[in-house]
Amino acid sequence: MKKVIILGGNGFIGKRLASYLLKQDVSVYSFDLTIPSDKENGINYIEGNFFDDDTLMNAVEDKDIVFHCVCTINPGNSWEKYMQAYNLDFIQTVKLCKIVSETNKKMVFLSSGGTVYGKKDIQPIEENSTTYPINHYGALKICIENVIHSFNERINDKIIIARISNPYGPGQDYTKGVGFIDAAIKNAISGKDIVVFGDGSVIRDYIYIDDVVKLLYFLSSYNGEYDTFNVSTGIGTSQIEILQMLQTHFPDMKIKYEKERDVDLKKTILSNKRLMDCYDYKMIDIKDGIFKYVEYLKEKKDEYAT
Ligand SMILES: NC(=O)c1ccc[n+]([C@@H]2O[C@H](COP(=O)([O-])OP(=O)(O)OC[C@H]3O[C@@H](n4cnc5c(N)ncnc54)[C@H](O)[C@@H]3O)[C@@H](O)[C@H]2O)c1
Repeated sequence: MKKVIILGGNGFIGKRLASYLLKQDVSVYSFDLTIPSDKENGINYIEGNFFDDDTLMNAVEDKDIVFHCVCTINPGNSWEKYMQAYNLDFIQTVKLCKIVSETNKKMVFLSSGGTVYGKKDIQPIEENSTTYPINHYGALKICIENVIHSFNERINDKIIIARISNPYGPGQDYTKGVGFIDAAIKNAISGKDIVVFGDGSVIRDYIYIDDVVKLLYFLSSYNGEYDTFNVSTGIGTSQIEILQMLQTHFPDMKIKYEKERDVDLKKTILSNKRLMDCYDYKMIDIKDGIFKYVEYLKEKKDEYAT
């Protein structure tokens, strides 16, 4: 049975991925700074610091597949924390690529969707579009991607770059810096204002977390022509459209419009043609995803409502 390790396994994507992998024919190892209090039976938890060389080596050395989900910055804080990201995240990921390439492991690196491409007139954006990162979070991801391309020149089973668009669903925490749908539903349930920056015309390619983890697992077995994939739906939805969907669940919800932020790209839709050409898969429709997430969050209200 293959051994799979998720670096950053307690995070939004890592945790859901671990739960999904438990149902596959693999042994699952979840690596993070702490062991979660809500441990899941069947997952092997490893407590450790990604930035400690020996700890990282020990954690990955006997594994077959590595999902790299650690990132210490996000689009919201990357202007404050970029030196840390280049000094730590970048260098340590280069070391990880070295280990992976020298020991013939498969790795999937979680990159970013919109922030690496920047402002684009032609949408949906394809993987071979030029990249023009709009902040240091996107720039960090591109630095790492370029290193991965170089390693891939020398290895048979390529390291895969997954450019994930805008995931939403169970386990997300918008207070960490991203997640319009998460924020909107939680605030609607708690009776708080839903804050919209600008007029609500910002368009994103929202993808349900269960689709993300299934596609990531598929990519861990891919060894074809490409090393970079958008993990997206290829469909854009505006914030206004999201709010209209939520209105059916929360007729009394309150919306507060604030000044638009210059950090927000107006529109980002990522083509998923490359991925769908390799994997025949039906995505969860956004209305169904929102319905599932609303039901989930209503049950968990005590955990986030204050
Ligand atoms: N969530 C999104 O909207 C989104 C979109 C596109 C790409 N991504 C990328 O996907 C990856 C995972 O995202 P996420 O939303 O699950 O992030 P997250 O912040 O929820 O999870 C990251 C995990 O890494 C762990 N971690 C941080 N520093 C560590 C260290 N030194 N040692 C061990 N573990 C450490 C954290 O404890 C956390 O559990 C990231 O690389 C992120 O950039 C996320």
